[in-house]
Amino acid sequence: MTHDRHSYAEPNVVRTTHLELDLALDFDEKVLAGSATHTLAWTGATSRLVLDTRDLTVLGVEGLTADGWEPLEYSLAVPDPELGSALTIRTAGHPRIKVSYRTAPTATGLQWLEPAMTAGGVMPFMFSQSQAIHARSWVPVQDTPSVRFSYAAHVTAPPELMVLMSADNGTTSRRTGSYDVVMPEPIPSYLLAIAAGDLVFEPLGERSGVWAEPATVRRAATEFSDTEEMMRVTEELFGPYRWGRYDLLVLPPSFPYGGMENPRMTFATPTVVIGDKSLVSVIAHELAHSWSGNLVTQDSWDDIWLNEGFTSYVENRIVEAVYGTEFAVMETAIKQHATVVKLDPLTPAELAVELPGLHHRSEYHGTTSTGPLKGSWFLSWLEERFTREVFDPFLRGYFDTFAFRSINTDNFVEHLREHLTAPHPDVVTEDELAAWLYEPGIPAFARRAVSARFQVVDEARGLWLTTGELPHGAERWTTQEWLRFLDAAPDVLSPLLLQQLDRAFGLTGTANGEIARRWYQIVAASSYEAAYAEMAEFLTKVGRMKLVLPVYQALAGTDRAFAAEVFAKARPGYHPITTAAVQKILGQ
Ligand code: BES
Ligand code: ZN
Repeated sequence: MTHDRHSYAEPNVVRTTHLELDLALDFDEKVLAGSATHTLAWTGATSRLVLDTRDLTVLGVEGLTADGWEPLEYSLAVPDPELGSALTIRTAGHPRIKVSYRTAPTATGLQWLEPAMTAGGVMPFMFSQSQAIHARSWVPVQDTPSVRFSYAAHVTAPPELMVLMSADNGTTSRRTGSYDVVMPEPIPSYLLAIAAGDLVFEPLGERSGVWAEPATVRRAATEFSDTEEMMRVTEELFGPYRWGRYDLLVLPPSFPYGGMENPRMTFATPTVVIGDKSLVSVIAHELAHSWSGNLVTQDSWDDIWLNEGFTSYVENRIVEAVYGTEFAVMETAIKQHATVVKLDPLTPAELAVELPGLHHRSEYHGTTSTGPLKGSWFLSWLEERFTREVFDPFLRGYFDTFAFRSINTDNFVEHLREHLTAPHPDVVTEDELAAWLYEPGIPAFARRAVSARFQVVDEARGLWLTTGELPHGAERWTTQEWLRFLDAAPDVLSPLLLQQLDRAFGLTGTANGEIARRWYQIVAASSYEAAYAEMAEFLTKVGRMKLVLPVYQALAGTDRAFAAEVFAKARPGYHPITTAAVQKILGQ
């Protein structure tokens, strides 16, 4: 086992196998307080248990003996700005250890929302985001994906609020102020999740449903009505869904991601609920994580491509099976275009940092947009070479073999050699494999997705840019065609061109966040001030990083003062992760 440099835990000597949480949610203080009791498996000689924490106040630690609980000595290290504080507990190998603690109101893994920041506007809301290393800010835990444990939680909250976790929550939204949930399957700490608010349930099918605020739940259920079908096709391709129920929780717009694959309870941004299902590949993506990531997990963040790369591939297979090849190809082409545009201007040295070989482990494989794409492109390439007839059963076998385990890239490559390249020699060469695994960038022999619809869009854009003629038929374009139109347009355009396009197609103020993000990027880079008020409103309403950061980035290059002004107004509604990212862009 390799050491996880993002955690102080020592899983080579001791591992949590089960966690019991007993927590109280205090919305006045913005604090979660209670205890975390670890059931431990000791495998080496040591006199201590080291847990990860960040900004936690530890109130006491106890260990279970034959005579009951005894207090244990502990010390909290000086915090490291990135990793937090190691909590070192003196223990003679106690089978269970209980830590009593409270979180800080500034916990990086939690956001506490005032009622005004919700759809209903009456009740407060809170939610967690643990990936990658934020679980430690709300639970003292071995915060490394190499350790897996089941968990049970007892949570109390104000009686008017519903509490949900990444666990078996049932399907009744009866509020009692006291909730008990269990997660029987072993999960890594980054999949610990909790949310509380004015949440109601609407079923989608036998084993899936949507949780959302009353004002949103109907629209969300309509948008996500293909969830059962997505589950069915994924099972057909890659084996059984092993987590019991699959529910979706639609969060307020400050949720910093598109989605988060919390097991049994995907957390999702409301920005995908727009009425035409055109952005539901986010749901396919989070569902795909039920196989890639949640079932077969990377054992450290440096191998995150095993998680996000595989998921991006499986996502596209789900999208193809449910919405057809044409749609899936457009989505692939959009992702590939974004990567190529980013990589093209790089020098070889920069490229080696931005997108190294998949075997060159780096946490950045998962946190930039290019990393997951290289992984999924690699898998698509294998699929094409070996054919689906061979590749699909191979991938299914991979999920079966490593189910509920945490592995690294070597484990995958070994499996690939044993079950794919050895039984089917001469399909790919060693040099080709090495290009993906050890060399930077996207190999020259990788085929790009070609979308006939995008060729039409590209021609329309070319005509518009050279003659000013508005794109024909664009009023009937799908979301993806608009994304293509904007993605491949120059960053800076003349106000006149922008005004004509805007007048014809009403881009300013669009309810489609993916279109808005790209449009406002151009608006900001071109200083098209007619759209600034709506752009500011968008930045204030939405906190999803993928949608707001590129706009701030563009504004930072043209109108930093305006960006700072908007940020000051939006900031109280942003998640701590979004706030930190915007501050970095604005140099604050
Ligand atoms: N698990 C990720 C989000 C994540 C990655 C959080 C790394 C923290 C660190 C999630 O599954 C994801 O990838 N979400 C994407 C949507 C997806 C369709 C690419 C997002 O948030 O936009
Ligand atoms: Zn993902």
